[in-house]
Formats: sequence, C-alpha cells, structure tokens
Amino acid sequence: MASLTVRQLDEKLKRRLRLRAAKNGRSVEDEVRTILRSAAADADSFAGAAELAHAGAAPVDPARQTAAMRVVLIIGGGIAAYKSLDLIRRLQDRGAHVRCVLTRAAQHFVTPLAAGALAGERAYVDLFDPQSEFDVGHIRLARDADLIVVAPATADLIAKMAHGHADDLATAVLLATDRSILIAPAMNPRMWAGKATQRNLAQLRADGVRLVGPNAGEMAERGEAGTGRMAEPAEIAAAAVAMLHADGALAGRRMLITSGPTSEPLDPVRVLANRSSGKQGHAIAGAAAAAGADVVLVSGPVNLPDPPGVTVVHVETAQQMLVAVERALPADVAIFAAAVADWRPLHVSGSKIKKHGRPPTIALTENPDILSTVAHRKSGRPRLVIGFAAETDDVIGNAEAKLKKKGCDWILANDVSPATGIMGGDRNTVHLVTAAGVESWPPQSKDDVAHSLIERVAAAIADIKR
Ligand SMILES: Cc1cc2nc3c(=O)[nH]c(=O)nc-3n(C[C@H](O)[C@H](O)[C@H](O)COP(=O)(O)O)c2cc1C
Repeated sequence: MASLTVRQLDEKLKRRLRLRAAKNGRSVEDEVRTILRSAAADADSFAGAAELAHAGAAPVDPARQTAAMRVVLIIGGGIAAYKSLDLIRRLQDRGAHVRCVLTRAAQHFVTPLAAGALAGERAYVDLFDPQSEFDVGHIRLARDADLIVVAPATADLIAKMAHGHADDLATAVLLATDRSILIAPAMNPRMWAGKATQRNLAQLRADGVRLVGPNAGEMAERGEAGTGRMAEPAEIAAAAVAMLHADGALAGRRMLITSGPTSEPLDPVRVLANRSSGKQGHAIAGAAAAAGADVVLVSGPVNLPDPPGVTVVHVETAQQMLVAVERALPADVAIFAAAVADWRPLHVSGSKIKKHGRPPTIALTENPDILSTVAHRKSGRPRLVIGFAAETDDVIGNAEAKLKKKGCDWILANDVSPATGIMGGDRNTVHLVTAAGVESWPPQSKDDVAHSLIERVAAAIADIKR
C-alpha cells in the first residue's frame, strides 16, 4: 500500500518524502505508513489526506504540511509556567505545530485546558491515561516531534532528566526521545547555583541537551534577584527555530529578499502603485527561512502576514526600499521579487491636489534601480543576485536582455498579462534565465516555485564557504 502510494507521487513530492524520511530516520515506506496512521487517527484529516493523495500530493496533517516543524512543549511546575502559554503562540507564529505536555506540578500554575486551547490540540498530562496512550502514546509523543522544548525546566525536572527517570509522562517522553531537546531553566537563583543543579546541568550538556537562559534579573519572589529567570518566550522560540533549522540546506546563510509593490505618493491621499500582491516574494522568504537561512524580507505594502521566522522590514516607496536593502547587506544571496515602481511623481504635494480647472499634468522622475545597484556593487555584492522580470510581451527575450543589463546572475521571468491571472493569483509559470540558458518550469503554485527556487539556490551556493 505504502509503496503503491509512493510510486504514484510526482518526482518532487518523492524527493520531499525521502528528505522527511531521512530526517526522521525511517524508510520511505515507514514514513508513508506513519503519515497515513497519523491521518487515519482523525477522520477529517483522513478525508483531506485522501483528497490530497488523489491530487498527487503527500497526505500529511495540514498543520505539519505548512509548518513542517513539530514541537512538543513540556511545561514544568514553576512560576514561569504562565509564560509558556505565550511561548505556544510564539512557536506557532514561527510556523511550528505545538503539542503540550504538563507535569502534575505544572497544573498548579496553568491548566491543560488553556494550553490545549492555545495549541489547538488537547494537552497531555498522564502517562497512565488509557485515552492518551491510545490516541498518541508517550513513545509517539517522543518520536513524532522535531524538537522537544522544556519550559520552564524546573530544578526537579532537570534532576530527573539527568538521572533518566521516567515516572510520569514528561520524563517518559524525555527519556524515550531521540530528538533534540532544548530546556529553558527557571528557578530561584540559589536553586540554580546549587551544586546538585549544576552537576545535573553538566550531565545534560554532556548528553547534548541545549539550554536557553536563564536570565538575570528580578525573580517572582519579592526582593529576590539574580540568575534564574526563565528566558523570554521570544528568546526561547528563536532558539527553538535556530535548532530546528540548524541542519537545513541554507543554515548559516544570510538572505535578502524583496517583495510586494512600492507605493509612490503624489499627495497625502494619492499614490502611484502596481498590482503586485507580494505572494511570490513572501513565499520565497518563508521557504528560505524553513531551509535554515537567516532571512531579511524588505516588503512594500501588502495584505499578507509576515512569514514565520523572517525579519521583515516594511517600506512604502522605492527609495525607502533601497535604503532598507542596503542596510540589510551583507548577504550571501539577494532575491529581488518586489515590483518596484520605475517612476515616482517628481513633486509630492504637501496637501491634497484639488479638482479645479484642467486635470493636472503629473511629471515623473526615475526611481533607483535596486536590482542593478546591488548587482553592480564593487564590494559586498551578494554571491548570488536574482531578479524577477514581470513581462507582458516577449517574456524570455526581455528577461535575457534584463539579465545582461542589470548585471544579476539569474532572472525568473513570468508573463503577467491579465489573462494569465499571475498578478495577485496563487499560481505562477516562470522561466529561469541564466548565462547557461533558459529553463521553463511547469505551471505550479507560488509556494512550489519558492521551494524549487530555494532548492536551486542551496545547490548553487553549497560549495561556497559559510
Ligand atoms: C509557588 C511555587 C513556585 C515554584 N517555582 C519553582 C520554580 O520557578 N522553579 C523550580 O525549579 N521549582 C519551583 N517550584 C517547586 C516545584 O513546583 C517542585 O519542585 C515540583 O516538584 C516540580 O515538579 P516538576 O518539575 O515535575 O514540574 C515552585 C513551587 C511553588 C509552590
């Protein structure tokens, strides 16, 4: 059954499946079986999976499909447990699917209901609960994760981990997992400095467990200060994402991406703009971050959420975009997907231009050419500079001319005539134009274009030293 399903998938999906299987240490068949088992546990996801399989897509849980990062968050019994509720959101904001496990002591500080409601999945609390064991089970909780985060990691949990205890769900999961573990210790400064705690931490470090925090500062107890405060949720989430992406194909690479239109003011209420939605540029930024790159996205005004795990600089005009791009350099790779206005009004009126007499004549002046400016830099030029060419006529001819004129390495050209529906739509048909020739990619979703491009980028810079 599994091999039948695999054979029916297209090459790209097979490749992704192989990567996923390799990452999880399973054979491709076992990976498919795991995915199907997981889908079958939920009637809705099973129906969705069947549809996807029929359409030639991998049948995976939608949360996992978009996130591709599964985090088990173990909440220990410390006063900082309330911050872990915020941590759930922070991890989700970065594209993670979060499952929560609460220790018995944690439930004195936060409820499984709150953690479950925020995670969008029931929270797990009891090793001997037959329902939990039937639904997921401690071994699957331990294995069906890309990362285990313990926050707050109490002195007690740290001690149990160091000694291999497994007398409750949290410790059983921690002992059964072969995945990376990140702990965010939180305790009174004297407990933190205690010899036993430091001994246990040395053991955990030797076992490969990673730490984030604790920080120094005021403690929850009045009048207490020192080292022992749990790291802030944003810091923990950032450390988790860094660990998750540490082995990505673009780990350690810095990428600069532009996206969206620019909007050039004429007066306080009117602008010259274009129809770019930013979907393609944002998808590329998300795919680059998911491959482990450190991504700065400079975006014009769009109606899209910021992609998870990406530093986004919001700008309006082409001039602002150029300033933001130059500030974001150096980068290993720069991808210019924004539709930058070629011209802007020469004069910007400080007050609304009134309607009287003949319509005004608007004089235009040229905007900076951001792609060409960066591609022609004498120093600090990114190793790979990629531009986009949105054309309505002679798409490939114009792209080839643009490649030479702008001095970039690759151009992704697409036909944005209204009939194609590409401008603002979810699909794209692109041609990759390089010095070596033209490669036409089949029509596909903008997400798929993004992933294919990122795979190509990773391969192109693989030999360049980080
Ligand atoms: C009000 C209160 C706050 C506590 N805060 C902490 C804390 O921040 N860190 C810690 O290590 N233990 C703290 N403890 C002690 C733990 O709750 C206790 O060691 C418990 O057994 C930890 O269980 P667990 O690690 O299984 O969650 C606190 C206890 C109480 C009553």
